[in-house]
Amino acid sequence: MLRPFDVRLSRRALLRAGGLSVAAAGLGGGRLLAGPADLVEVELVARERLQRILPEPAGLSPLVTYADRFPGPVIRLRKGQRLRATLVNELKEHTSIHWHGIRLPNLEDGVPFLTQPPTKPGERHVYEFTPPDSGSFFFHPHCNTIELLGRGLAGVLIVEEEGGPRFDADQVCLVKDWQLDKTGQFGAFTSDRGASRAGTFGTVTTVNGEIGPTIEVPTNGDVRLRLYNVDNTRVIDPRIEGAEAWIIAVDGNPLPPRPLDGWPMGPAMRIDVVFRAPKEAGKTVRLTNVYAAEPKPLASFRAAGAALPNKRFAPRPLPPANIPEPDLKAAQVIPMAFSAAGAAQSFDSVLLTSLPYADQLCLAQKTFWAINQQSWPEGGHERLPPPIATLQKGRSYVFELANLTPHLHPIHIHGYTFKVLSSDQRQVVPHHADTVLLEPKERLRVAIKADNPGDWMFHCHIIEHQETGMMGYIRVA
Ligand code: C2O
Ligand code: CU
Repeated sequence: MLRPFDVRLSRRALLRAGGLSVAAAGLGGGRLLAGPADLVEVELVARERLQRILPEPAGLSPLVTYADRFPGPVIRLRKGQRLRATLVNELKEHTSIHWHGIRLPNLEDGVPFLTQPPTKPGERHVYEFTPPDSGSFFFHPHCNTIELLGRGLAGVLIVEEEGGPRFDADQVCLVKDWQLDKTGQFGAFTSDRGASRAGTFGTVTTVNGEIGPTIEVPTNGDVRLRLYNVDNTRVIDPRIEGAEAWIIAVDGNPLPPRPLDGWPMGPAMRIDVVFRAPKEAGKTVRLTNVYAAEPKPLASFRAAGAALPNKRFAPRPLPPANIPEPDLKAAQVIPMAFSAAGAAQSFDSVLLTSLPYADQLCLAQKTFWAINQQSWPEGGHERLPPPIATLQKGRSYVFELANLTPHLHPIHIHGYTFKVLSSDQRQVVPHHADTVLLEPKERLRVAIKADNPGDWMFHCHIIEHQETGMMGYIRVA
C-alpha cells in the first residue's frame, strides 16, 4: 500500500540508463526537498553497442558503454541525494564499477578482488552511497580497463552543490581518443613500447564522442564547462580561445576562481571552467589543447538565441568543500617512489609467466612499473600483494610522491581527496584533487586525513602504466 507521504519520504526515480543522458535531479519535482531520504536509482547495462565515431565511408565502431551512446549516462544528483546504481553485466568478461573521486564506503568502491567479487557475465551488482561532496565525477570499470575504457566504458556522475553561483548553461565535455583504424574497427590498445613509455595514443581525438563538435551555448551567457579527460593516455592543457575563461574547480573540488592559462590534465583529471559566450548569436569560441607543440582544436562553442543582458565577467567561488583537514604538523611523511620495475632492469619487461591468476587480477601480461619498488603483484604472489602502506585511521599523512622516471604520471587515490601542498619544481596552487599530475623527476607533496577505513587503490591513471605495475593499495585500519 502506498501511503501519500511515502512520496515525500522517499522520492524514487527508476531510470533505465538507456537514453542519451539521465538527468536524475531534473526528473519532475526538482522542487521537492532534497532530504537524506531522497534516492535516485539507475540501471547501467554494460555491453557492446555500435556507434559512429569516424565519418563515412568508415563503418560504425563497436564501443562498450553503459548507455545507448557515449558519452552516457550523465547522472546528476543534488548534494545529499543517495544513489543506487545497478550494474548489469552483459559483457563476456567480469567487470565492476569504480566511482572515481567519490569519498565512499570501501565496499562500494568497485575494485574486483579488493573491495568486491568481480561481477560475472550475466550478473548484477548494486552500489549504493551518498556522495559527501559536490562536483564533477565519473565512473568506469577497474579491470581490463585498457580495453574497456578504451572502447568507451565510462559514465558521468555530477553532484550539484547547494547554493553557490548560477550559470546560464552547464555543459559536460569528455575528451577522449579512440584507437580506430580507417574502417572504424579498434586496433591494439596497448604495446610494450607504449606501455613502457608514455602510453599508446589513440588515432582520433573526440569531444563527447564527436570529432571537433560545435556545441551551442547561450549568447552572452556564462557557461559552466565541466571538462573531463577520460582518455587512457593523453595529457591535455585546455584553453578557451576567444573568450574569458576562469577555472573554478579541480576534480570537482572548488578552487578560488582564476584565469585558465595552464592547467595540464592527465587521464581522469577534471576541471570546471566558466567562460563567457560570444555577445552575438552565430559567433564561436574554441576549446583547444595547447599541450602539444601545435595547439589542437577540440570543440567549438557557438552562441545561440537572444543575447543575455550584459554583466561584468567575474566568476564567483563555489561553496567550500567539506574535506577533512589533515593536521600537517602531526602528519607522518610517507615516501612514494614511482619508477620502472626492477631497479636494474630499467624498461625491460618482467614476465609474469609464473602467475596463473595474473589475468584474474586484472593485470596485463607484463610488468614495466613499480611503486616503492613493488609491482602488483610482487613476483610470485598468487593473491593480493601486501599494501604499499598501512595508515592509522584518524591520523594525518603527507605522501611525498617522487617521480623517478622521465614520463608523466597522473597519480590517483581511491576513497580520498588529496590536499596538494607543494612541488620541488614549480609553484603549486594549493587545491584539492583525487588525481595529481606528477611531472618527470618531480617531487610533489600531498596530504590526507586517514578518516575512511578500507583498502584503497593508489595508482597511475595512464591505464597502461597502471596495469603493468604502477598500482598498489593503501590500507587504512
Ligand atoms: Cu579512475 Cu582506480 O581509478
Ligand atoms: Cu604513469
